[in-house]
Amino acid sequence: MRPEPEHLRCPDCGHDGLRWPAGADALDCAGCATEWSVVDGLPKLYRDAALGRVDRMMRRIYDGLPSLHDPLVRVALPLLQGRHENEHAVREAALDRLRLDGLAAPADRPLRVLEVGVGTGANLPRLRARLPAAPVEVWGLDYSIGMLRRCRRRCRRHPSLGQTRLLLGDAHALPFADHFFDRVFHIGAINGFEDPAAALAEMARVARPGTPIVVVDERLDPSRDTGLLRRLGFRAVTFYDPAPACPRDAVPAGAADVRDEQISRCFYCLSFRTPG
Ligand SMILES: C[S@@+](CC[C@H](N)C(=O)[O-])C[C@H]1O[C@@H](n2cnc3c(N)ncnc32)[C@H](O)[C@@H]1O
Repeated sequence: MRPEPEHLRCPDCGHDGLRWPAGADALDCAGCATEWSVVDGLPKLYRDAALGRVDRMMRRIYDGLPSLHDPLVRVALPLLQGRHENEHAVREAALDRLRLDGLAAPADRPLRVLEVGVGTGANLPRLRARLPAAPVEVWGLDYSIGMLRRCRRRCRRHPSLGQTRLLLGDAHALPFADHFFDRVFHIGAINGFEDPAAALAEMARVARPGTPIVVVDERLDPSRDTGLLRRLGFRAVTFYDPAPACPRDAVPAGAADVRDEQISRCFYCLSFRTPG
């Protein structure tokens, strides 16, 4: 569904609350008068020029191949990791670490969860199944219009996902007020981000103090033997990064419960609590 403009922050001046008159093809900021475009019905709250070189290259790939993403993940993960370490296992392990059990909405507003780099929305049905029925807001941000179009299609087809709020944004400058979300997570792209520390700081900023932040991406398990074929496969999947590693040293100062875990042969999970 259409994100509420009053909940969006201007990435240029930091003013909280944008205006988006019904039917208008742009949002505007009352703070600095910047206009933000609407692309195919989705607010676009970042500038192409602000993206780094790798981010721009990766966005071209995601925009060009959104229909291949899900089948590739489904087939490639068991090949790379073995039958039991499939897509389902990796996604569930990541969501386990978000600690959603028993989570309830605060008294004065809905429970809010953000996936940064939501892609085609493959995590959303699993996430929704772990959340209470209402009042809940699930937000998905991504910089690729191709991926978000597929995500929107998934949300329209899936009865429980119809209320998902989707928008175009850059993980390095999240267009939300401080402490807006009860949970924030990201799966699958931080290794290629221009500045992982800035992205982690942004995830922490928009999360309620003390809440868990979960970030998952590729890293070969150093404690397991990996044959040549798997190493070559891993290299192909992570072609943009010569040494995929967990950005543990980039978590914001003051973060608590910092954990760097290998959740499968090819994926780490970095989790921490935001500074209180
Ligand atoms: C490998 S896909 C994973 C998608 C989804 N999280 C999942 O688990 O299936 C990574 C996603 O991150 C998005 N992404 C990469 N860099 C980004 C950035 N700087 N800001 C926002 N989204 C980004 C890509 O467009 C893509 O949709």
